Amino acid sequence: MKRHFSRRRFLTTAGAAASVAMFGPSLFNSSMALAAPFMRRDIGNLTATNSIIVGYRNAVKAMKLLPATDGRSWSYQAAIHGTLTSPAKTAWNTCQHGNYFFWSWHRMYLYWFERIVRKYSGVYSWSLPYWNYSLATERQIPAMFRDPASELFVANRNAGMNGGGSLPAAHVDVALGLALVPFTNASGSLESNPHNNVHVDIGGLMGSVPTAAQDPIFYLHHANMDRLWNIWLAQGGGRTDPLSDATWKNTQYTFFDENNNQVKMTGCDVLRAAQQLSYTYEGEPTQVKQYCLRIIFPPWIWQEIILIRWPGPPVELGPERVSIPLEIKELRQRLISVGENKTQTLQLKLDEVEADQQPGVVWEVYVGLPANAEPDSEGPYFVGTISLFSDGIRRGPEHTAAGHKYKPASFAFTVDRAVRQVLKGNDDKLRITMVPSGILINGKPTRPRVASKVRIGQVSLALQEQKKGR
Ligand code: C2O
Repeated sequence: MKRHFSRRRFLTTAGAAASVAMFGPSLFNSSMALAAPFMRRDIGNLTATNSIIVGYRNAVKAMKLLPATDGRSWSYQAAIHGTLTSPAKTAWNTCQHGNYFFWSWHRMYLYWFERIVRKYSGVYSWSLPYWNYSLATERQIPAMFRDPASELFVANRNAGMNGGGSLPAAHVDVALGLALVPFTNASGSLESNPHNNVHVDIGGLMGSVPTAAQDPIFYLHHANMDRLWNIWLAQGGGRTDPLSDATWKNTQYTFFDENNNQVKMTGCDVLRAAQQLSYTYEGEPTQVKQYCLRIIFPPWIWQEIILIRWPGPPVELGPERVSIPLEIKELRQRLISVGENKTQTLQLKLDEVEADQQPGVVWEVYVGLPANAEPDSEGPYFVGTISLFSDGIRRGPEHTAAGHKYKPASFAFTVDRAVRQVLKGNDDKLRITMVPSGILINGKPTRPRVASKVRIGQVSLALQEQKKGR
């Protein structure tokens, strides 16, 4: 399956000329943009009449008209991510969540999807836009996706969001994950916040794995997740893809190209978006070039030691805020020394997290929040969010989908900053607080309706230590 490489080279050259003609030379302020002809634009900079939007609408329409057995049809493409239809056809239900393929698999998926849309859009330089909800001006579902007359509209989304409601800042806090250095910590954190939260807040098709990719907004959400991978790497400081991990590099996934040919890809094929896949993101820093080398460097190994476990019964999350105190009297000295050690970090771990159905709610998580204080996601005690997508939903549609085995969800939060703050006082309790939080309507927080309680089987505080492998 080497054939797509030569075709890509053709597109690279042909596309470059087309893009320059379309956007004019002023947008190309770096030589890198010229090397990668396709620029994925920020949806916030596009209007409903822009050819990218018109082209997307045309493509959705055309792809929906293709027979369902065609690998390029709208339903087939969505089924590659997940589907409730069985028996499964080639490449169906192959999306990767809750593991270290999350970023790479979705990058491959978007790449082939984008080529198909490009073909059916009628726009030669068509590139997938990204939804940059980090900007306060882009917290609503983009207007052209809320127009009931458009192919980009989906009626069963959360009515508040389709009505112009906004994602709260705490649900799209990318700073938490971008700050983390180990690949799996960063990827896991960003998968949870903003990724899961955006799925849950939009709801409807987007709210569960086997239907999510039927909503056209899915792909803009994931273009942003993909952009965050680049941004995370560009921060340096030891951030790297798992290049010592043969499984991560060589596992092959199957997709379909714009001519309905089966294609396969591995992690090594998607390390350098501009160079290997011909795209950049509007406004992103210079992409870091990572390579799959033959020489294997000894990997960094992260070891984990549980310091303390919540001894009480499982914690239940419902419509009210919940708080549990971890006893840290004996641990104080140890925690202080962790704070001074650069190779160690503290993790709050929530395991065996389950709900009967999609709760439809995001919980904000705080560590050390004083008993009567108002939760403030801008403050030092905010450590992240809990929302379920993929794992942890017992009787959700994901459970019945072919090829998806049920497993409870797990969350890990890096809590060094919050714990440091608590150690400044002399409280012997480390209070873990979880607060349900809804979308904003007219800028005001709403009380979310909890469709199903969440049960957390295990709460623990762990020490994660970086060791040089053999
Ligand atoms: Cu594979 Cu956002 O889901």
